Amino acid sequence: MFELVYYSISNTEITTEIVNDILKKSRATNAKKNITGCLLFYNKVYLQLLEGEKEAVQELYEKIKRDTRHYEVTLLVEHDVPERMFPGWSMAFHESINKESDINQFINNIDFFSKNNDLQTEATDMFLRMAKHIVVK
Ligand SMILES: Cc1cc2nc3c(=O)[nH]c(=O)nc-3n(C[C@H](O)[C@H](O)[C@H](O)COP(=O)(O)O)c2cc1C
Repeated sequence: MFELVYYSISNTEITTEIVNDILKKSRATNAKKNITGCLLFYNKVYLQLLEGEKEAVQELYEKIKRDTRHYEVTLLVEHDVPERMFPGWSMAFHESINKESDINQFINNIDFFSKNNDLQTEATDMFLRMAKHIVVK
């Protein structure tokens, strides 16, 4: 099993329409390729974790990098892992959060998640720390 985390910057404000479009495509394609993961966004930043067979994940990442809806697609970590972090999620997703109370709740969730997951790996740890970083402004 292989895991990859990247972040990128959206070219436009991230609207519900854009996210729904990405998720619809992701869920259909990823399921077929046995890829799972999680997509977060906040303001104009996307943060995504992809996991699956190495070749399939890298192929998808190359495709995502060419997507003109975002730029500065930056690889944070990629490595082999013993197990998936998001089995059963062709693409889990956390909706944009704007209210301060929502942000606090989200940070608490991340804290809880990072302290209680036995499958903590470098990539997921990076993912959770970045997730926290992008919402703490
Ligand atoms: C932030 C972001 C995340 C994406 N994640 C995925 C993904 O997990 N799976 C996927 O198939 N496409 C994803 N896409 C869409 C791809 O970049 C691309 O548009 C799509 O795979 C094109 O498929 P096609 O060549 O079959 O039309 C993502 C796009 C963006 C901007």
